[in-house]
Amino acid sequence: MTEPLTEKLQHLRTEAKHALDKAADQDSLEPWRVKYLGRKGQLARLIKDISQLDAPARKSAGQLANTIKQELTQAFTARAAVFRDHHSAPATALSGASLPPASSVGHLHPITLSIRRIQHIFARMGFIVAEGPLVEDPAYNFDLLNIPLHHPARAETDTFHTASGSVLRTHTSPVQLRAVLAMNLTPPFSVISPGRVFRSESTDASHEHTFHQLEAFMVGERVTVADFKGVVKKYFSDFFEQNVTTRLRPSYFPFVEPGFEVDMSCIICQQAGCSVCGRTGWLEMMGAGMVHPNVLKNMNIDHTRWQGFAFGGGIDRLAMLRHHIDDVRLFMSGRLDFLNQFS
Ligand code: DAH
Repeated sequence: MTEPLTEKLQHLRTEAKHALDKAADQDSLEPWRVKYLGRKGQLARLIKDISQLDAPARKSAGQLANTIKQELTQAFTARAAVFRDHHSAPATALSGASLPPASSVGHLHPITLSIRRIQHIFARMGFIVAEGPLVEDPAYNFDLLNIPLHHPARAETDTFHTASGSVLRTHTSPVQLRAVLAMNLTPPFSVISPGRVFRSESTDASHEHTFHQLEAFMVGERVTVADFKGVVKKYFSDFFEQNVTTRLRPSYFPFVEPGFEVDMSCIICQQAGCSVCGRTGWLEMMGAGMVHPNVLKNMNIDHTRWQGFAFGGGIDRLAMLRHHIDDVRLFMSGRLDFLNQFS
């Protein structure tokens, strides 16, 4: 079975390159990409067959498929650059090697890249990833998190409501309950949940109605604030690739007790004082605390035996600091001149 499959791959390589050479203009590139490199394209189909081979054959066929994928992607990029730079002039004499990459291939959004980076950091610390719905039941967004009806967070003005009585979630904290209940988790466990949240507020360079948060929580028999401080230090230090310090300030959130705000040493000025940190040397990064007994009860967890921490903070802010972006609205703007910097 090996022979035919590697032969098929070789044949595909020749045919695809030939077809690409014959592509007469920009418009014929996308159909070519879909046919050969698309998710349901010819290469993808052959790659699927590889899994049925036995181990040694699988390895060599896999390597070959990877090489071919790289070759075809590069050839495509080079061809697209030729068309872009020279419009539709034939360019057979040009080698692709020195040409800039084509922007038409597409790439991940900077927020997606940040989320992947974060997931990686937390995976190494043993956290699992959970997702919750964006259109949320107010019970999860508020009540089960110990947020009473009169709490300012529930103000009509801050929350987008749907006609059927749901809300667009205003934070990722409801996933604490969703994850534990849906996956039937029993302690000890460590979970993160990155995702999109919404608030009905006016926008400016540092506020957007749609943004992203990271929720994290860890429950165990002896999980303390010290564990929290260790995890957060690791999170920020790895994310920004520099050693940061953190400080906690007492604060109030209904779903934790005690609660605090977490500041991180300014990574822009190293605490010398700059405009980003308002000359304080500290950046406000997240809310956190020890999970409130009422919330543990709502998770069906015995709060006399188990305890843990939770925190929630903005992801857009992290990406902005890391890439020196000064306007949060750029993320949702769809502006290609901004987005293409992340290709
Ligand atoms: N959900 C809060 C917000 O969006 C942030 C937060 C505070 C999350 C404290 C937590 C926490 O998990 O313990 O403002």
